[in-house]
Amino acid sequence: MADATSGRSAAPRRVLLKLSGEALMGEHEYGIDPEVVRAIAAQIAAAKNDGTEIAIVVGGGNIFRGLAASARGMDRSTGDYMGMLATVMNGLAIQDALEQASCPTRVMSAIAMNEICEPYIRRRAERHLEKGRVVVMVAGTGNPYFTTDTAATLRAVEVHAHVILKATRVDGVYDADPETHPEAQRYSQIGYTDLLSNRLQALDATAVSLAMDNEMPIVVFDMTVPGNITRAIAGERIGTLISGE
Ligand code: GTP
Repeated sequence: MADATSGRSAAPRRVLLKLSGEALMGEHEYGIDPEVVRAIAAQIAAAKNDGTEIAIVVGGGNIFRGLAASARGMDRSTGDYMGMLATVMNGLAIQDALEQASCPTRVMSAIAMNEICEPYIRRRAERHLEKGRVVVMVAGTGNPYFTTDTAATLRAVEVHAHVILKATRVDGVYDADPETHPEAQRYSQIGYTDLLSNRLQALDATAVSLAMDNEMPIVVFDMTVPGNITRAIAGERIGTLISGE
């Protein structure tokens, strides 16, 4: 039972699911589509029934993007803080949908806002996971200049997840942008250093370096295929595995 995505044998499988904010807006250009969030929650609830412990880190790009705002003249840190607040809204939407699917959920924020959700305390997050609660981690790392992918990697390492499952709109990592290069080939597996040296855009370099230093495998998969979130959480080999080999 010791493949690249299930290092710990005695403890239940623990995964960190990274959801982009854009995933929540469905066909809309902005905001949260409750039906889309419900469908995602149903897949997570289905996967949880086999005892897998699930932490979620969600982005905020469906509501606000700090980097895009800074490109248009806003102070980068201010933009990033606004983006972090956007992730809190997304986290609450996910909690609502998960609990409607009978899945106990705790939202934990890297920026204290105790009236709305719990503060992120690592040991408490682990305890929630052990008790079978889905833990939605919001507000990134609490710091500007860090992406949600980096926050996801940091949290995965902190709570000793087996794997990061990065849910995107592409079915893995390609050797070139598949949208502009139709001949691009998808990797089923790629090493951290190859990803970094080829400057492939699947994740930012900070996230990949942190994962590499801590031997944290990452699976990049297409969440627009119905059932793929459940499959990825269950450990099926889909998408691209980024690891040390
Ligand atoms: P256990 O202590 O393991 O039983 O966990 P628990 O989360 O069920 O217990 P607790 O009494 O800590 O929390 C009860 C509810 O209050 C849960 O829904 C928590 O998410 C929520 N809660 C706990 N701390 C905070 C907080 O600081 N702010 C907010 N808004 N809610 C909190």
